[in-house]
Amino acid sequence: MTKMKRFLAIVLAVVMCLAIVGCDKKDEPAAPAASTPESSAQTVAATEDNADNTTSSGTLVMATNASFPPYEYYENEKIVGIDAEVAELIAQKLGMTLEIKDMEFSSIIGAVQTGSVDFGMAGMTVTEERLVTVDFSDTYATAVQSVIVKEDSEIAAVEDLEGKKIGVQESTTGDIYATDDFGDENVKRFSKGNDAVAALSAGIVDAVIIDNEPAKNYVAANEGLKILDTSYAEEEYAIAISKDNTELKDKINAALAELKADGTLDAIVAKYIPEN
Ligand code: ARG
Repeated sequence: MTKMKRFLAIVLAVVMCLAIVGCDKKDEPAAPAASTPESSAQTVAATEDNADNTTSSGTLVMATNASFPPYEYYENEKIVGIDAEVAELIAQKLGMTLEIKDMEFSSIIGAVQTGSVDFGMAGMTVTEERLVTVDFSDTYATAVQSVIVKEDSEIAAVEDLEGKKIGVQESTTGDIYATDDFGDENVKRFSKGNDAVAALSAGIVDAVIIDNEPAKNYVAANEGLKILDTSYAEEEYAIAISKDNTELKDKINAALAELKADGTLDAIVAKYIPEN
């Protein structure tokens, strides 16, 4: 009888997971532009959310969304990129082991807030809205929102986006700005940035609004696309930390300050973003 109950519980859990995944995937085109394995040795399955992830356990758990080159992306099943490398060095300075959890970008803030991860690092922009629910470290990078269009597009400036279909990664600042400026009905949201870019190539959307460095990577990886000259918004990236964990915030800021002062941060950025 208990066996049966447990079996039913498992079936129910699987059905719920499938339902959640099913909902998440509704906007995704069939084939993503780049391959991003769903799991790897480096990441932890979402089901381990209840594990002890407190900073005292020796493991520092980072939430990210690893389809955002050059900040975080997969290379041979491993998550690499500027954020992954900086986080690794922060963990080292804290005497801890870094563990990276890959998840939907829209889930990161919640994961930080509930404490299922220690921090979120995902090319994440500091915004007033996010500061209501989480704290941010000192900033470690600046970015601008870029507009990607097809090479032969008639869209030449931000104003030309009026009435056009705009692809964005869900819950990103690109999503927020596009929705505010051009209306919810004109914004198509995707779970990954490269899915939005694939939709642009396929003619499903007319433009994609996304951070400049990932934009350059996506355009390099996909024929027939270009980035408009105008930048749409300027922003700063930082690490999201729970409001309850000022101790960790202070330690991360101290580690970041060292990495900035001794040139390590610049070296990592230069490795991933060659001067153009
Ligand atoms: N900077 C933007 C934001 O904070 C986009 C970040 C997307 N990051 C990612 N790893 N997919 O909303």
